[in-house]
Amino acid sequence: MRVRVLTDEKAVARAVARRVEAAIRERPATVLGLPTGRTPVRLYRLLREAHLAGRIDFSRVSTFNLDEFYGLPADHPGSYRTFMETHLFAHVNLSRRRIHFLDGTAKDADAECRRYERAIVKAGGIDLMLLGIGANGHIGFNEPAASLSADTHLARLEPGTRRSNATLFGGRVQAVPREALSMGVGTILRSRAIALIATGEGKADAIAQALEGPVTTRMPASLLQLHPDVEVYLDRAAASRLTAR
Ligand code: F6R
Repeated sequence: MRVRVLTDEKAVARAVARRVEAAIRERPATVLGLPTGRTPVRLYRLLREAHLAGRIDFSRVSTFNLDEFYGLPADHPGSYRTFMETHLFAHVNLSRRRIHFLDGTAKDADAECRRYERAIVKAGGIDLMLLGIGANGHIGFNEPAASLSADTHLARLEPGTRRSNATLFGGRVQAVPREALSMGVGTILRSRAIALIATGEGKADAIAQALEGPVTTRMPASLLQLHPDVEVYLDRAAASRLTAR
């Protein structure tokens, strides 16, 4: 893993935005994997600005979001689809048919997960997967467990994960769905390149364990150690418990 420690959250967002810009410049039909959450908000703003300034043309780019709450329609104010529309999709020239999302209202969750895996393959696989990390080490909604699902699946959310998503539901934890559809760790690891982004003190323990601890399903982000092309973008606070620096 190539670790880059930058001064603060702003510098992290700038560095990742440059990475995305370079990927699209090199390959205009890049397939991106995208996270939601607090971490990428500033990054998405910079991508919008880069598009407005004429530096990024999204017209041939495809996107696959990592996850979606199960039971929520796409236009629900708390859905990840709504988050993405607000922060990125509505502001750039992505082609609607190249935006891919898990359908939280699918009756048959397994069939929906299989459809998503097939769509990723049909798009040629994910070129650059952007990832955030949970304070418990989750990536996507792959929560720490004795075993993990390799492929896209229906996941149960931990109480802490529901708490950290409460802001999307007006602060009401009870309103956060208990389940979500999520890419599996295998889906993530099949991406050609991965950029893991973490900012703030609250991620420091997870980052230290994921990067320097053993590879274990109890710390899902540690499985990224198995991938040959991972860049980790950290601010000083998130890097503060790494021993190797
Ligand atoms: C979101 C996702 C999650 C988040 C993680 C960090 O699509 O897959 O794994 O990346 O929970 O969330 P924030 O950025 O809010 O700390």
